[in-house]
Amino acid sequence: MNLEIDDLYNKFQQFSIDLFQDDLINWFQQEKRSLPWRENQDPYRVWVSEIMLQQTKVDTVIPFYHRFMERFPTIQALAEADEQDVLKAWEGLGYYSRARNLQNAVREVATVYDGKVPANVEELGELKGVGPYTKGAILSIAYGIPQPAVDGNVMRVLSRILFITEDIAKPKTRKIFEAAVEKMISQEDPSSFNQGLMELGALICTPKKPACMLCPVQEHCAAFKQGIQEELPIKSKGKKQRTIPYLSVVAENEKGELLIEQRPEEGLLASLWQFPMADATEVTIEQLAYWFKLEYGVEIKVEETLMPVRHVFSHIIWEVIVLRATVVDGEVPDKGQFVSREDTVNYPFPVPHQKILQQIHVSE
Ligand code: ADE
Repeated sequence: MNLEIDDLYNKFQQFSIDLFQDDLINWFQQEKRSLPWRENQDPYRVWVSEIMLQQTKVDTVIPFYHRFMERFPTIQALAEADEQDVLKAWEGLGYYSRARNLQNAVREVATVYDGKVPANVEELGELKGVGPYTKGAILSIAYGIPQPAVDGNVMRVLSRILFITEDIAKPKTRKIFEAAVEKMISQEDPSSFNQGLMELGALICTPKKPACMLCPVQEHCAAFKQGIQEELPIKSKGKKQRTIPYLSVVAENEKGELLIEQRPEEGLLASLWQFPMADATEVTIEQLAYWFKLEYGVEIKVEETLMPVRHVFSHIIWEVIVLRATVVDGEVPDKGQFVSREDTVNYPFPVPHQKILQQIHVSE
């Protein structure tokens, strides 16, 4: 590591940090998009935005962010909210542990820090779900404290500017980039510096076909000088996602209610709701009614096959065969509950089960 850091510092011998800061910050001031979390520097607003923006594009986040802020405008409001309501507001954004961790951390801020988001590295870093990136983003953007905020986009931008060839898929590589930012960051305006790097990654220094002709820091860019900007960053391929086949049953009783259940409190899609799902490597369509009776204590008759649903998560893929069934016997299930179609809107469903719900509503 120290060798790598020495290597990094050598790169700065031919690099004008002052001119780079000026070019980046001036460009950011002029070209920055007007985004809802840029209206002010409220640390809570910045925090929520940075959590939502992890693994999720700006355009996707904006409507969720507006709705979330309307519902939970303050630390106090989010701390006091019901977890199911928070998950409902997050419904469709994915990576739901982000929402649960955020609420846990906000509750801690409300009780331990009198509702004020800590403005130092140590306390902030202790909060649930606040990793090095989020910590640096909050400190620099909300509090003007010069700290690195390095995510995948920033690594792409800096790998090109400084010609850093370490594998950005490796967790320890982020530290090299953090060391680079610590050296480069503006002490006067760390907020614009960090956001400038993010904005550059979003608008100019894109993964494919970067717009180098429009780049405000082109003359500082080592990769551009050699014409190899598209070869960087170096990123090894992750493991391929495993595909899991499921059978999912929409079971309707004579009142028109549907059987749904809550997922376990831990693990994938924790505490969200779903239609019953059987592992299709263990249960066949022919065995489904039998399996259903065993699991839920409800007798069903399978009526028809609906459109299958496929959903790609970060590490697995679900392929779900969807069946519509009617309940023949059993009013009170052993597991899950019957809810009316209208009431399903009050429960947070993961996207694949929203896709199933849509089919049910359309076929009414
Ligand atoms: N991506 C991550 N954080 C961001 C921010 N504050 N503005 C725009 N894009 C971002």
